[in-house]
Amino acid sequence: MSPKRVAILISGGGSNMLTLLDSMTGDHPARPCLVLSNDPQAGGLAKAAARGVPVASVDHRPFKGDRAAFEAALLQPLLDSAPDILCLAGFMRVLTAEFVAQFEGRMLNIHPSLLPKYKGLHTHARALEAGDGEHGCTVHEVTAALDDGPILGQARVPVEQGDTQETLAARVLVQEHHLYPAVLRRYAAGDRSPIFLG
Ligand code: GAR
Repeated sequence: MSPKRVAILISGGGSNMLTLLDSMTGDHPARPCLVLSNDPQAGGLAKAAARGVPVASVDHRPFKGDRAAFEAALLQPLLDSAPDILCLAGFMRVLTAEFVAQFEGRMLNIHPSLLPKYKGLHTHARALEAGDGEHGCTVHEVTAALDDGPILGQARVPVEQGDTQETLAARVLVQEHHLYPAVLRRYAAGDRSPIFLG
């Protein structure tokens, strides 16, 4: 069977994207076909290009909040590269139900909280404010509802005395880098059973 084609959407430095790229070698059932960003300056684009992966960007700013028009433009490079699986990896634009519908059942996201806790932004600050003893990250299938959809994996970390948003985010990010490649490998092989780490 030919390997699954994976497109990865990013908005920033793309450390999760890089762990996904680096995992897709050898007997892995998938290969990267595109790294796409809503920010032409996203640091991850140059890093992906340096690894020989096709990159593209569609700046969301000129669309001035016209989400449908932005997504129509975003769709073009995706249709051209014909991915089987779409991975959101630090992609910070909310996608419409219409966009999601085109990739439903083959789009994954990583979110820095133990969903269903803390959908949306500022997850680390919210976990600290709540006095949580543990925190973590989730990989889930993307559905029209924000940070919802079937959970494919979670990794837990302790919240430690004296943690700041930064120290906690860094501890979670280490686990994100274990969890996302593990879930993608399984998912690309057709196995949607969840993985729990930590
Ligand atoms: C990651 O922590 C990811 O979970 C989070 O953004 C960071 C991106 O880092 N994603 C979200 O908050 C999505 N709502 P990276 O660019 O180094 O992978």
